Amino acid sequence: MKKTVGFIGWRGMVGSVLIQRMVEENNFSNIHAVFFSTSQPGKVGPNIQESNILQDAYNFDCLITMDIIISCQGGKYTDDTYQKLRSLGWNGYWIDAASSLRLHEDAIIVLDPINLQDIYSAINIGVKTFVGGNCTVSLMLMALGGLFFNNLIEWVLFSTYQAASGAGSRHIIELVKQMGYLYQSVENKLYKKKYSILDIEKTMSKSIQEINFPKQEFFAPLAGNVLPWIDCAMQNNQTKEEWKVQVEANKILNINNTIPIDGTCVRVGTFRCHSQAFTIKLKKDLSYSNIHNILQEHNNWIRIIPNNVHSTLNLLTPCAVTGTLNIAVGRIRKLNISTNLLSVFSVGDQLLWGAAEPLRRTLMILLST
Ligand code: HSE
Repeated sequence: MKKTVGFIGWRGMVGSVLIQRMVEENNFSNIHAVFFSTSQPGKVGPNIQESNILQDAYNFDCLITMDIIISCQGGKYTDDTYQKLRSLGWNGYWIDAASSLRLHEDAIIVLDPINLQDIYSAINIGVKTFVGGNCTVSLMLMALGGLFFNNLIEWVLFSTYQAASGAGSRHIIELVKQMGYLYQSVENKLYKKKYSILDIEKTMSKSIQEINFPKQEFFAPLAGNVLPWIDCAMQNNQTKEEWKVQVEANKILNINNTIPIDGTCVRVGTFRCHSQAFTIKLKKDLSYSNIHNILQEHNNWIRIIPNNVHSTLNLLTPCAVTGTLNIAVGRIRKLNISTNLLSVFSVGDQLLWGAAEPLRRTLMILLST
């Protein structure tokens, strides 16, 4: 019998990408899908299966009838419903994109190219809660999985270049508005034969400071700027985004000795791909061909990009990777600062492997067990 799967937050960015991927992979043919809404119950839902009237996402009588629930609605919805649903005796599978439940003892963070065996073990012992990891964490593990898997990493230092999408859809819109605002401020000067670049730069820098410059979402300009702060402050001077990396990565890796991972998370003016620069302390010296093979063989989505200008500018960028499941890994080189220090740059789509894809794949794993 087909399992009944409830979708909550399917209209948001991560939810939409999830639905898109499920349609591409024909995943809806295996399930009976029920679409929920927090704001428009009773209205018509997506045209995917015959019955598509939206159910109330706060109707526990209905939620409790689901075999599996996937929420991309955000942490508040999870906080409002998850415990109550469990306390009502609901014993179905809960798959979540939000961070609320990630560190719960009885939840597993899912990234099956890294922890498929742990996911199976969790299912066998009755774990019912499966949560997608933070996007920078998932993308880092996808990129460096081979080195982690072969126990070759002593520690990792990272700098991230995180896209506007990680902050939410309204932030992407605001970034584009900021770009437009800047363009308009100098449009009449750009196409003159004789232009003063210092005048153009000064005009843009001034317009960024104007009261009307759109920054209601980011609270700062992102176009023409970088923002080295993501999420709230932790007591140890990290941001929460930085704090999550070591904690979540080690939970996913599920090894005895914690691998130290730290760095700086930075928002940049890209749309939906997160990039990351890693400095990796290897436990031993490896040849370049060994490193390439170890990285490449870990999963099917790795694209090793040769360390030259043409390949890097064409293949190792957010523009090249966006909308694909590829994990581009390049600029691989040994640093001359100290022995066994490796530098790697990687790019991945924050909405795909960074968010929706591990959830979709988890649903498929749960349906197949
Ligand atoms: N927290 C991430 C970001 C996205 O702000 O880019 C979600 O994992």
